[in-house]
Amino acid sequence: MKEARKSSRDDVKYCHTMNQKYYVTTPIYYVNDIPHIGHTCTTLAADALARFAKQQGKEVFFLTGTDEHGAKVVEAASKEGVPPQEFCDQVSQRFRDIWPRLNIQNDYFIRTTNPKHKEIFSRLINQLYDQGEIYKKKYGGWYCVGCEKYITEKDLVDGKCPDHNRPPIWQEEENYFFKLTKYVPILIEAIQNPHSPYYYQVEPEAKRNEVLSRLKDDVIDISISRANVPWGIPIPWDKEQTTYVWIEALCNYYSALEINNRLDFWAKDVEIDHLVGKEILWFHAAVWPAMLIALNLPLPKRIFAHNFYMVDGQKMSKSLGNVIAPEEMIKRYGVDGTRYLIYTSFPHTNDSDVGWSRFTEKYNSDLANGLGNLVSRVARLCEKAQLERKPEVQFGCPNEFTHTVNNLKFDQALAYIWEKITQVDKTFNEQEPWKQSGEALKKTLRTSVTSLHEIAYLLTSFLPQTAEQIKEQFTGEIQARTPLFPKIDA
Ligand code: MSP
Repeated sequence: MKEARKSSRDDVKYCHTMNQKYYVTTPIYYVNDIPHIGHTCTTLAADALARFAKQQGKEVFFLTGTDEHGAKVVEAASKEGVPPQEFCDQVSQRFRDIWPRLNIQNDYFIRTTNPKHKEIFSRLINQLYDQGEIYKKKYGGWYCVGCEKYITEKDLVDGKCPDHNRPPIWQEEENYFFKLTKYVPILIEAIQNPHSPYYYQVEPEAKRNEVLSRLKDDVIDISISRANVPWGIPIPWDKEQTTYVWIEALCNYYSALEINNRLDFWAKDVEIDHLVGKEILWFHAAVWPAMLIALNLPLPKRIFAHNFYMVDGQKMSKSLGNVIAPEEMIKRYGVDGTRYLIYTSFPHTNDSDVGWSRFTEKYNSDLANGLGNLVSRVARLCEKAQLERKPEVQFGCPNEFTHTVNNLKFDQALAYIWEKITQVDKTFNEQEPWKQSGEALKKTLRTSVTSLHEIAYLLTSFLPQTAEQIKEQFTGEIQARTPLFPKIDA
């Protein structure tokens, strides 16, 4: 917590503003893969930011969804022997089922096969075409179906895409292109200069530098259509081609709001926050802003790119067969146990190596023996002393805590809370209330209970159920209960 340096996020007065609107999004997940903790970490990150913004009095819209077109989905559907739409319905449902189980409170779930999304996207792409932002040309390149993008030979390792462990295919066809190169100088200025009318943040800093160096070095116009991928939105002026999946997928952030009649969240004064994984940063930090500028629409305020969960040094993904599924984690650790383990291992700046034994160890030490044990001990003595507590104190979030949450340093935010837990535990042990009686005992217990309420307040965005339980257990007549986090065998 010591390095509470002033971040660019603080400079734009990101938080603490009443009546401020906050729009947070996750990527929309491809339905070729079932939900794993790689997807879960971004959705939980958005959930914590959304809850935190609400706690600060902001009006919030939180969006997630599924990305359902493209070659990758057709490939997965045909492997299962199911028509693409049916396949999308099934896999999309798995995402829609798991988020509420993790107590994730998104305001809408967008599916790109929704006819309204198609309609809105067609309008936007037509506008770009009418404005002369799109042209046709012949193009050939190496295409990775796993990434759904062209990749250069220098990205390959042993002739294969390192993220998907498969060779790309050579594709040559006549496609439509968006004039991305035209926007390069504006984008560089927009990322670097807070006074630019298009200013937006790319975070963390290392990722910003990557985007800037690519913008200064390696940009070509981007193909926006495919000639041989029937599973997609038809190009409105040329029905022989479908839209390149990425181009319409990016528009989900806008179309979801229009579908919900909430375009008031796509406005200049709204804090629009896109959370993404590092491999899809370019699309969000360069292609999408360029499209928005061309469309004369407001830009997001921040694009935050996190790293990956790794298992034995490899990225977690279905194609590599090493996924950790959130359902499995919930079975072992419960909902808030899972949330805690994901937040504390969130791959903020570096890749995060995870595994079951590490998770179980952390669960037992921090939750079962840490917070859970403290709550039980305090409650037992309160019950014995017949302590009652009226809700009184109002809490707030200290700046250094707010800073870590807003910058997605969830491990640090939780470490801040756990320092308090350790402190309360220590004081409790030093005062030995089990040896006290009468007013002295009540006084000690009251102090611990107030601290537990403060801990619950700070936990609200991360472990909402636990926070509620603590508040409820320590209000009115206090009674001992079954442990919040039963210890589990390693
Ligand atoms: N459909 C596109 C996103 C379009 S957004 C307009 C896509 N989908 S994805 O399902 O492949 O990936 C979605 C997100 O999951 C990405 O942000 C990606 O980084 C994240 N993760 C997938 N595997 C991951 C890990 N192993 N670890 C952390 N996150 C990773 O890309």
